[in-house]
Amino acid sequence: MRIALISDIHGNLPALETALEYLRAHAPDAAYHLGDLVGYAPWPNEVVELLRAEGIIGVSGNYDSTVATDYDHCGCRYEDPLQERLSHASFAWTKANVSAATRRALAGLTFRLDLRPTGGHGGGPRIVLVHAAPTVNTLYWTEDRPDSFFRKMARIAGLRAGDLIAYGHTHIPYTRTLDGITFANCGTVGKPKDGDPRGSYAVIDLAGSRCEVTIHRFAYDVERAVRAVRESDLPHELADLLRTGGRAQASAD
Ligand SMILES: [Fe+2]
Repeated sequence: MRIALISDIHGNLPALETALEYLRAHAPDAAYHLGDLVGYAPWPNEVVELLRAEGIIGVSGNYDSTVATDYDHCGCRYEDPLQERLSHASFAWTKANVSAATRRALAGLTFRLDLRPTGGHGGGPRIVLVHAAPTVNTLYWTEDRPDSFFRKMARIAGLRAGDLIAYGHTHIPYTRTLDGITFANCGTVGKPKDGDPRGSYAVIDLAGSRCEVTIHRFAYDVERAVRAVRESDLPHELADLLRTGGRAQASAD
């Protein structure tokens, strides 16, 4: 059995369309998203509609739950005044531009999905899907967290050896195994932050009770997204960040 996972699309329709093409090539038995469907790029409604049309369900990201409830902050972290300004502008733009149907779809997302692909009553691995962590959907679970943090999250999620937990939120993918549990940060489809403008997705292969996950990177038509950001009322710096894979540089205009 094969399960595909996509996370942090962030309103980037060209990136999502390309990710779905690559996913089809893996012929997965199922595909799920890990939240943050909207924000930062100008296709929030189209992204939600495409996922619905493809039958891809998933969990609620911090951006989804805060847009859906018209909250006053997106739950995003920023490290400098530019990031803070872009974050506020993107959040305001997204809240003003999501349709009522999109808002309802975002509000209806659950915060966790548990998959038992080999049968709920049998043994075999459990696959837990969350946006950021099993505690809250705003926690940055980076690869450099100590083993004690990974073990704490595993305990909270109720995981045992052989299980897998998948998440995103940091926009930087990694996988690791500890105590027989697989941890998979699936990165981001539409808003990379590691200096590589390509998106990422994950594929889980189940063979018997073994659960193996692979992170894939894919190139897409970044310039289509850049043009659309620039033609919208979103800050132009967001277009530059798509080109640089999230690395800050002086705006081109
Ligand atoms: Fe995100």
